[in-house]
Amino acid sequence: MKIAIIGTGYVGLPTGIGLAELGNEVVCVDKIEEKIASLSAGRATIYEDGMEELFQKHRKSGALSFTTDMEKAVNGADVVMLAVGTPPHPITKEADLKYIYAAAEELAQYLNGYTVVATKSTVPVGTGDEVEAIIKKVNPTADYDVVSLPEFLREGFAVHDFFHPDRIVIGANNEKARNVLLKLYAPFEGKTEFLLVNRKSSETIKYASNAFLAMKIHYINEMADFCEKAGADIREVAKGMGLDSRIGKKFLNPGPGYGGSCFPKDTNAMAQMGRKFGAHLNLIETTIAKNDERKVNMAKRVIDSLDKSTNGKIAVWGLAFKGGTDDCRESPAMDIVSEIIKHSSNVTVYDPKAMDNAKKIIGDKVKYAQDAYDACKDADILVILTEWEEFRTADLNKIRGQMKTHKILDLRNMLNATEVRAAGFDYACIGMK
Ligand code: UGA
Repeated sequence: MKIAIIGTGYVGLPTGIGLAELGNEVVCVDKIEEKIASLSAGRATIYEDGMEELFQKHRKSGALSFTTDMEKAVNGADVVMLAVGTPPHPITKEADLKYIYAAAEELAQYLNGYTVVATKSTVPVGTGDEVEAIIKKVNPTADYDVVSLPEFLREGFAVHDFFHPDRIVIGANNEKARNVLLKLYAPFEGKTEFLLVNRKSSETIKYASNAFLAMKIHYINEMADFCEKAGADIREVAKGMGLDSRIGKKFLNPGPGYGGSCFPKDTNAMAQMGRKFGAHLNLIETTIAKNDERKVNMAKRVIDSLDKSTNGKIAVWGLAFKGGTDDCRESPAMDIVSEIIKHSSNVTVYDPKAMDNAKKIIGDKVKYAQDAYDACKDADILVILTEWEEFRTADLNKIRGQMKTHKILDLRNMLNATEVRAAGFDYACIGMK
């Protein structure tokens, strides 16, 4: 099939590559010329584990191509996927749909033959109706259907997740459109669950899933705080809970709060939709407020563990919103560092992948270390904010040799408490004494 993908970010590019691997002809279109030039020349614009090889393979074979020319991409396509950004509005926090609407308006002119327009971006419930109306207005004779086709890819694991989906949700209001997408995803038949639902249910499924996961993280974080006070151990509690298949083991890792370009944006948008429809989503509202509060509390914990009179050095490991990505958008680590620097002028940070992105946000308000050990030089406390494998396997004696005071605050619970204490550190983490 011929597929056009509009938007070549963390959703569009891995999806395009995945669909090319399934045997389709994929044309990716983006407004940003440098992006298209870079992708056409074989330089991927984002990092995703396992992406490079497939990207090169299909780019070279011609199954995957890149253009700024909407007409070239859309004309004759069987499916056009909208994968543009839906950033939060700075004040209302609603998903801003200007890129979706602009893309719909533009693509409408070039529809040629029956086309399914599928929305991959996370969009508020009812957006499909709007997109349908925009296309109709621009091109009243076009033969098309608008479908919601939410994606559930995790950043950093997008290629893996594309080929191993937990489910494929197709939100189509008619049989014809549904059948086109069933054909496109036929290679997954028997391998995963297909959920054929109406468009609004599909749009809701995406938000309800992300909001639920965010609440699950908030829940385990709250439990961790409880364990600290009550003398229980959150690792044991999470394990005991997770063994119940109704609860599940995943997303029970306590931390400094959830972040990234999806959960904060989507929980806010969902809460806003609840207000709009007069169906208040109290659990989500609480999750958002408490997750924000948590980051401030974590920064306070760092500051409180230092002798205020000495302006002691704070070493920070990790800036990305989670391990495995260079993305600092809505990163709890960045929020915590930003809070810490309100109280300290002696902060040195290190992240294996996210330093450049972090610099764009906090600039020279902190020092940037060459590596993890360099960050610890003469430090009075080491704070771990992102779970990178190299932190887990770091040489404790080497760290000890670098630091002035041997104190570690592990806000990702990634080090082995017994080993770290045996190596002579004053070690604190989340959810246990
Ligand atoms: C999330 C969802 O997991 C994907 O299914 C979804 O497709 C994507 O959003 C999206 O809407 O596009 P992602 O933002 O890449 O994916 O990141 P996650 O791996 O879900 O982590 C989000 C945040 O939660 C991170 O800050 C992470 O550190 C935190 N987290 C996650 C925890 O604190 N504890 C956990 O147990 C799990």
